Amino acid sequence: MTQTLSSVSYAHVSELDHQYLLQVYRRFPVLIVRGQGVWLYDEQGNAYLDFLSGIAVCSVGHCHPKFVQRLSEQAGRLIHVSNLLLTEPPAQLAKRLCEVSGMERVFFTNSGAEACEATIKIARKYANHVRKVPDYEILVLEGSFHGRTMGAVSATAQPKYQEPFAPLLPGFRVIPANDIDALQTAFNERTVAIMLEPIQGEGGVRPLSDDYLRRVRELCDEYQALMIVDEVQAGVGRTGKWFSYQHADILPDVVASAKGLGGGFPIGACLMRGVASTVLQPGDHGTTYGGNPLAASAGLAVMEIIEEENLCENAERVGNYLASRLHELQAQGAPITEVRGRGLMLGVQLSLPIARTVVQKALEHRLILNATSDYVLRLVPPLVLTEAEVDIAVDILNQVLQEVQP
Ligand SMILES: Cc1ncc(COP(=O)(O)O)c(C=O)c1O
Repeated sequence: MTQTLSSVSYAHVSELDHQYLLQVYRRFPVLIVRGQGVWLYDEQGNAYLDFLSGIAVCSVGHCHPKFVQRLSEQAGRLIHVSNLLLTEPPAQLAKRLCEVSGMERVFFTNSGAEACEATIKIARKYANHVRKVPDYEILVLEGSFHGRTMGAVSATAQPKYQEPFAPLLPGFRVIPANDIDALQTAFNERTVAIMLEPIQGEGGVRPLSDDYLRRVRELCDEYQALMIVDEVQAGVGRTGKWFSYQHADILPDVVASAKGLGGGFPIGACLMRGVASTVLQPGDHGTTYGGNPLAASAGLAVMEIIEEENLCENAERVGNYLASRLHELQAQGAPITEVRGRGLMLGVQLSLPIARTVVQKALEHRLILNATSDYVLRLVPPLVLTEAEVDIAVDILNQVLQEVQP
C-alpha cells in the first residue's frame, strides 16, 4: 500500500497540543495521520496495529470505503437541521436499532455519557411520576463506569472519578458487582431502577454472569424497577451479538449505546421499551445535535456493514481465537493470570503491575494497546480483525511481556 508522508511534524503538533489543549489525557507519543482497517499510520508512514480502535469505537475499522462513501454523500446532501424538523436517517436508524435490540423507542445523543444521562432521567422521572417514591434508590455496581457528566459520574461507583466533583447527584446506591446475594438483599420497595454494564469496560473488562443478569431481570419485574443496561462499550457487535445482554437471553427496559454505533462519528442512543418509553414527554429532554442526519447516516452505515460482513460472527470467532492465543502465552509462562471478556472485548489480567509499561513498549513495537489499571490490559480492536492480525499482535505482546519482566 502506498504511504503518503505528511508535511506535519510530531514535534510541532505536540508543542501545539501541550500549549493549547487542556491536558486531561496522557497521550501516546505518536502523531497519527491516517487509518485503514485495523491499521493506523504516523506522519512518517509507520504502520501501527490498532487494538484500541479509538477506545472501542471504530467497529468497522478505520475509513471503511462504504462508511466513508455514505458519510460523504450525506454530508453533501444535508448535515443538520435540529430535532425540530423531520429527516429520514434518524427515523431509519431508530427502526434498525429497535429491530436488533428488542427495544421500542430511541432517543439519540452525541456520546455515551449523554446516553447514560438520558437513562438516569428516565429512572428519576419514573420514580417521581410513575412509582411515586420520593426517597427512591437507583442501584449501581461497584467498579462501574457510565461517563463524565455529573449524572453519569454520580452513577459511576469508582471514587477516583467521583471524589474531585462532590457533591454528587443523590439517589444512587452502590452494591457489589456480580454478587447475587447482595443483589437480592439490596432490592426493596424504594428500588426504582438498577443500572449496569454486562461487561464492565473501564472497570477492567469484568463480565457479569448470565445468571446474575437473569436474576436482575426477575427482581426488576418483581419490584417494578427498570433494568437499565449500559452497552456503550460492549454493544453493537463487539461481544458477538448486537448487544451483550442478548447472551443472557433477557430484555432490559432501557439501554444506553454509543461508541461502536457511530464507527468513529459521535453518536449515542438511549433505547427503551414498555413503561420506560412512556416516561419522557415533549419538553422533558432534548439535545440540539442528537441523531442529526450525518450522525444517523454513520450509524446506519455501521449497522449495514456489520450485517453485510457478518462482523458479529467475526467478533466472536476472532475473539475466541485471540483468547486462545493469549491462553497459550499464559501456559508458556507469561505473567498472565486470567483472560476474560467476550468476543473482541478482552481483558488480560497480569500477575505483575506492568500493564502501563507493556502499553508503552507495545507502542514502540507498533501495537496500540490500552491498560485500565497497572494490572489489566484491555483489547478492543475493530471488529474487522483477522486471525492473521491476531497472530501479529500476540507475537508483539509476547515479546514485550518478555522484555518488561523484572
Ligand atoms: C460503559 C460506558 N458507559 C459510558 C461511557 C461514556 O461514553 P462517552 O465517553 O462517549 O461519553 C463509556 C466510555 O468509556 C463506557 O465505557
